[in-house]
Amino acid sequence: MADAEISSLIALEEKRQSEVLEMIPSENYTSKAVREATGSVLTNKYSEGYPHKRYYQGNTYIDEIEDIAIERAKKLFKVPHVNVQPYSGSPANAAVYFALLNPGDVIMGLKLSAGGHLTHGHPQVTFSGKYFRPAQYDVEEDGRINMDKVADLAIMTKPKIIVVGTTAYPRIYDWKRWKEICDSVGAYFLADISHITGLIIGGVHPTPVPYADIIMTTTHKTLRGPRGAMLMVTDQGIKKDPMMGDKIDKAVFPALQGGPHDNVTAAIAIALKEASTPAFRAYAKQIVMNAKVLAKTLMDQGLTLTTDGTDNHLMVVDLRPQKVVGNIVAEALEVANIVVNKNSVPHDPNPPFYPSGIRLGTPAITTRGMKEKQMNQIGKWIAQVIAEVSHYRLPEKKVDRGLFLKKTRVELMKNKKLATIRKNVIILTKKFPVP
Ligand SMILES: Cc1ncc(COP(=O)(O)O)c(C=O)c1O
Repeated sequence: MADAEISSLIALEEKRQSEVLEMIPSENYTSKAVREATGSVLTNKYSEGYPHKRYYQGNTYIDEIEDIAIERAKKLFKVPHVNVQPYSGSPANAAVYFALLNPGDVIMGLKLSAGGHLTHGHPQVTFSGKYFRPAQYDVEEDGRINMDKVADLAIMTKPKIIVVGTTAYPRIYDWKRWKEICDSVGAYFLADISHITGLIIGGVHPTPVPYADIIMTTTHKTLRGPRGAMLMVTDQGIKKDPMMGDKIDKAVFPALQGGPHDNVTAAIAIALKEASTPAFRAYAKQIVMNAKVLAKTLMDQGLTLTTDGTDNHLMVVDLRPQKVVGNIVAEALEVANIVVNKNSVPHDPNPPFYPSGIRLGTPAITTRGMKEKQMNQIGKWIAQVIAEVSHYRLPEKKVDRGLFLKKTRVELMKNKKLATIRKNVIILTKKFPVP
């Protein structure tokens, strides 16, 4: 590469990705084919509009590529209408609201601290919470959503749309019950399946397609595609409003976006083809089997998981019993080459920047071919790291916290136990090359 500065950083990042256990549940390793499409000449093209209705010339092949991506998604998800142009998940959700709501309408979604997403009506600091009125539901003390309470809140707040989908919820959704709640108040039903798309396609999580009106998914998580998103309108949605597909398309372009990223569209098409194979179904099944073994190992080591385990690809460790913040544990795990993220736990007494938990998952390490035996080992390493740093306490005074984190980081870098785990992690990763 001509730019030595950037190319050396990319090489270092490639090495990092291969030598760590990548356990952030929203990340994954794409195939070479997906990366080749993302880095192809398609990035040179402008294609404002939709296939066969473009504002620029020269889109003969781009039209074919986008048609293929749409057809593959329709077939795989069994939906009548697909838009593959959203730049990412957040703009895709914005497009749904733009298409179906008016400013000031009520959006009902799960609280961020309980595992919801910013775009589901998080108050004040997001567009979804500022231009719409949020009605946020929470989880119970045990970390689970109480559907009766959700039903009551819906009747009280009369949302125009109910968003079902999360970033840190380890359990399966009862899509049928959600539809009943939506119907009871005449709300649109948006299923945001960003995290679990791969599990749905792989047949290990029930699909919302028979129940939801609109489905949004990012393409870069369990689906293992490029960074992007898709919006799908179901038969239900079209029955509710025959123009819904058209409204969604118009909201994506021209309302919110300009030209689609054709290189990403091609990579999405490739990812969808890969996801339609028996090998992908086996992958999805293994993600969940791995997550269950990892969760059990962590609990056997005395750790607390929200909802006491997992049904899907992720879990949240509640560190309140250890009295250590997620920041310290996440930093210590990174020193040991295990990459997770700090995360709030249900009813977290701490602020989001110093939350009481960590979130971790198995999609990326399962892509590398790791199985139950490795999960058992990884769970033990994680428990050892947590035990090693459990004595660190976040200073009471806010002004002291920055310096405390800095000092702790330096200490963790010198910690011998973490260094030993890191050495063993690197040995393990060498046996499971990234694709
Ligand atoms: C459930 C959910 N919705 C939406 C998004 C937003 O996607 P993006 O980060 O691509 O904007 C995410 C990403 O974390 C997500 O998990």
